[in-house]
Amino acid sequence: MNTLTTNPVAALLDRLFEQAAAAAAEMDSAVADLSDEEQARLIRSKTDYLDFYGRLKNAPLPISRETGVLLYMLARSCGARTIVEFGTSFGISTLHLAAALRDNGGGLLITSEFEPSKVTRARDNLTAGGLIDLVDIREGDALRTLSVDLPETVDLLLLDGAKALYPEILSLVESRLRPGALIIADNTDYSPEYLARVRSPANGYMSTPFGEDVELSMRIG
Ligand SMILES: C[S@@+](CC[C@H](N)C(=O)[O-])C[C@H]1O[C@@H](n2cnc3c(N)ncnc32)[C@H](O)[C@@H]1O
Repeated sequence: MNTLTTNPVAALLDRLFEQAAAAAAEMDSAVADLSDEEQARLIRSKTDYLDFYGRLKNAPLPISRETGVLLYMLARSCGARTIVEFGTSFGISTLHLAAALRDNGGGLLITSEFEPSKVTRARDNLTAGGLIDLVDIREGDALRTLSVDLPETVDLLLLDGAKALYPEILSLVESRLRPGALIIADNTDYSPEYLARVRSPANGYMSTPFGEDVELSMRIG
């Protein structure tokens, strides 16, 4: 028995994933006026991400169920006590990681989201899951909120905010990553600069694609 697969978290996640599937059409309509090329440009932009995600403020945009289970297992197996997350949204990935912290005996998860209504939803969901005591939700642009007050060492980093900012966010957290720390990045196809960095051992990482469009990396330096 563990926190992820028992209630209240298990039933809450079932409901949130169902709602996310139902909201997929809403997400499509929020960007329907943009051509595929413009959408791709916005996703890859280091400056226009506020506009893009602002349009998607009602969309949960969660990791897949499979990636959620992967996050929980990785956080458990590395005994994570300190976790940083870029991109909270409704808190679905956060629930998986916080459940792992609970089962590891406690710890701190710092997560970042600039859309105020999403911060409220995430806080409500983490409260309903009984995990809010483990989570520091930082409202605002992660380029700012994750630039201060990080734990001395970080065991696990999840990158799931604006894809073009993965290198910048990694730079903010890098000095805190302990040797063996894991970095999981979702949808890395949109961040070739990030992939080039973590796939070069000279930069202090080992890295491999894993699961559905996930890059799993480990700090070695
Ligand atoms: C793909 S969603 C995150 C989904 C979440 N990890 C989950 O699985 O439930 C990306 C989120 O990152 C937020 N975001 C994007 N860029 C950000 C930034 N620079 N600072 C803070 N939040 C950001 C967006 O508003 C959006 O809610």
